[in-house]
Amino acid sequence: MIMKEDRRFPHRHEVLQFMKTKPALVIFIVLTYAFGYLTAYYNHVPPSTTVLKTVKATKPRGSLVDNFRVTTRCGDPVPPESIRQTVIDKIFNGTSPYVDFPPPHAGKYLRSKRIKGWGSYGAVFENLIRQVKPRTIVEVGSFLGASAIHMANLTRRLGLEETQILCVDDFRGWPGFRDRFKDMALVNGDVLLLYQFMQNVVSSGSTGSILPVPFSAGSALEKLCEWGVTADLVEIDAGHDFNSAWADINRAVRILRPGGVLFGHDYFTAADNRGVRRAVNLFAEINRLKVKTDGQHWVIDSVNVT
Ligand SMILES: *[C@@H]1O[C@H](CO)[C@@H](O)[C@H](O)[C@H]1NC(C)=O
Ligand SMILES: *[C@@H]1O[C@H](CO)[C@@H](O)[C@H](O)[C@H]1NC(C)=O
Repeated sequence: MIMKEDRRFPHRHEVLQFMKTKPALVIFIVLTYAFGYLTAYYNHVPPSTTVLKTVKATKPRGSLVDNFRVTTRCGDPVPPESIRQTVIDKIFNGTSPYVDFPPPHAGKYLRSKRIKGWGSYGAVFENLIRQVKPRTIVEVGSFLGASAIHMANLTRRLGLEETQILCVDDFRGWPGFRDRFKDMALVNGDVLLLYQFMQNVVSSGSTGSILPVPFSAGSALEKLCEWGVTADLVEIDAGHDFNSAWADINRAVRILRPGGVLFGHDYFTAADNRGVRRAVNLFAEINRLKVKTDGQHWVIDSVNVT
């Protein structure tokens, strides 16, 4: 019985004999070729092309600079006491933007104070300003200036008279923001956010400590880096989608002085792990940093990224 069943299959030595013959070799080659062809077809890419090389080359490396191919270093740091004038020179042709403010075409549309923010008065601001005693703060995403004015008040109250707050924002809001801010004027397509922000700063007596940097986060942070402007504290509160938050954090960290603090709003949002939180966590993971939370804010302490 056993013998009979056994005979249905060739004996092992017979198989070995067959494998040494020419037909076997031909079958083997054909099968190998067919397998390779089908695999390549299935993956929709021809095997062993540049695609594989690219994947190999972009494998995460040790540092951010390695991965993102940014300029390797920022300009030599400007002394903190010269930062305000540097920004005024580079952006405002040497004259404070508050001189002769407001311009006639905008003045009649501005309210003496029109402030609205989200989470702008959270305890995190006072906690971090007490902890860091910043000489320079950069805020990315200022809108109408609520949190910047709050920080200016705090620094004044805590005796940090010299502190400068640079507010990076394109001051355009976002497409459709006037659905929620119908009272804000639109002049030939200009939403006047920069002027209303400045008016709010004027009304709260903070023109000496708050300067707008009215450009997109990306271009402004690149330039601050190039000019050697560094900050002790950087707040990120601009675009909340992953791509924006990711780019802002990675650009901002380059202008942070070694050991400075990076923080931002909306760590917990309906976007769950697809927006700000995903970007913050990924950044922390790559750089082996710890994320703390303070209310709705995320905080990364003592950042030293090379
Ligand atoms: C910039 O400042 C210089 C020197 O004060 C002045 O001559 C020039 O007109 C200014 N340019 C603009 C565009 O305001
Ligand atoms: C900041 O201080 C100014 C002037 O004292 C005050 O009018 C304003 O309400 C304060 N704003 C905030 C946000 O604390």
